[in-house]
Amino acid sequence: MKKARLTIDKEFAISQIDDKVFSSFVEPLGRCIYGGIYEPGHPKADEKGFRLDVLELTKALNVTANRFPGGNFIADYRWEDGVGPKELRPRRPELAWQSIEPNTFGLNEMVEWSKLNGSDILMTVNLGTRGIEQALDLLEYCNFKGGTHYSDMRISHGYKEPHGFKYWCLSNETDGIWQIGQKTGYENGRLARETSKAMKLLDNSIKTVLAGSSAPSQDTFPVFDAESLDQAYEFVDYLSVHSYLSNPENDTSNYLAKSLTTDAFFKSVIATCDYIKAKHRSDKTMMISFDEYNTWNKHSKERFENPWTFAPPLLEQNYALEDAVVLGGLLITILKYTDRIKIACLSELVNCISHIRTENGGSCWTLPPYYTFLHFSKYARGTALQPKVDSPKYDSQQFTDVPYVDAIATMDMDENITVFAINRNLEDSMILETEMRGFENYNVAEHIILEGADPKDTNTKDNPNKVMPHSNGNAAIEDGKVQATLPKLSWNVIRLTKI
Ligand code: AHR
Repeated sequence: MKKARLTIDKEFAISQIDDKVFSSFVEPLGRCIYGGIYEPGHPKADEKGFRLDVLELTKALNVTANRFPGGNFIADYRWEDGVGPKELRPRRPELAWQSIEPNTFGLNEMVEWSKLNGSDILMTVNLGTRGIEQALDLLEYCNFKGGTHYSDMRISHGYKEPHGFKYWCLSNETDGIWQIGQKTGYENGRLARETSKAMKLLDNSIKTVLAGSSAPSQDTFPVFDAESLDQAYEFVDYLSVHSYLSNPENDTSNYLAKSLTTDAFFKSVIATCDYIKAKHRSDKTMMISFDEYNTWNKHSKERFENPWTFAPPLLEQNYALEDAVVLGGLLITILKYTDRIKIACLSELVNCISHIRTENGGSCWTLPPYYTFLHFSKYARGTALQPKVDSPKYDSQQFTDVPYVDAIATMDMDENITVFAINRNLEDSMILETEMRGFENYNVAEHIILEGADPKDTNTKDNPNKVMPHSNGNAAIEDGKVQATLPKLSWNVIRLTKI
């Protein structure tokens, strides 16, 4: 059996992992909200219309915050439509997803649901069809104590205490040709700078996120980001970047290597931020909000085929085992950059590009990558340790020298360690030997594995438990090193407790 080595050292920490790295994304897109987290009349919905079966699945993910409400949705959204008595809320044609938006779920419903879910909200403002004034109105409604027009409006809607949102995303993917109010880097940076400046005058406790280019593949990247940062550098706190990995070639080996492109992407994003830091002679280091990431395979034009319907089933994917392992590679890569990535949002939470699927009026179930994120969110809290991985390699259609094994370890407050590892080898198991320098007296508490007979294995409504994690891994400590077999095409979580 081929063998890979991981070396970690107590002295070599990358960074404390920010809690917001365990965030997700809720957008009124397709059935993410309507028919997903919110479905009045569903047998399992509570009196407010929140589906409790879905809530159980989202709570288990332990996400710390959700970006809301967009996404592309934000570019023509009027937040006022979604507050106050429901019977007075307007139905609107929603342009980004060509759907009908009834506005029965707005920001206060999101607040209520988030309380049940135990998560915060990363609020997005519309700088597509709107501007500084409406961003200020929204901030006043959400965060101002009272005694002013919009804060009193919130109080009249039943929320005496301010919502106190701390994180504010200044629009979304503004470089995209599909975006309403598409902007150049200069325009984006300039408007974000002035919006952030004004918002911080109203509430100087907030942090703002500048929209960067929408994908590493966009020809606007990284010039758009540099031009935007050039305008807004001293006025914002994070640069937003997005990336989705896909398998259009239907070549699993090649697909599995794609987290290497994410690694290269992060290096370029950091270099771009640091170039502007140098240009401005600034003392400030720009942090990164990786506020949309996932795998995404079914790219369709479905919204244009049946436009102007309510909550159509858009962007619903049949994620399989291979997607779970690719996501594992992505999550390991995020952990390697937690000195700069301080927010990360799995996109999205329910139905649309999501690992949680529901049936209107019916059941809900989870797809294999659900467990990859769940393990990450549950066990990666603490400090990321610099990994030195030495693995046999392979070549794929687009990549050379792809390590079969990628891995990283994190350490919690009690110095318990978790090793996260993927095996990209489709034919064979691999041995992973972990040397833990500076760590003594550990037990293997659990070796969790997500594996399957076929890369396309998945779960369905009728067979929801076909691909499930198990704890029968053989990780053991021998001569102070952790020896573990990583089955072919697998996601592994090795939990080591300090004795
Ligand atoms: O998550 C789906 C969409 O993908 C988002 O609305 C947009 O920001 C991205 O292009």
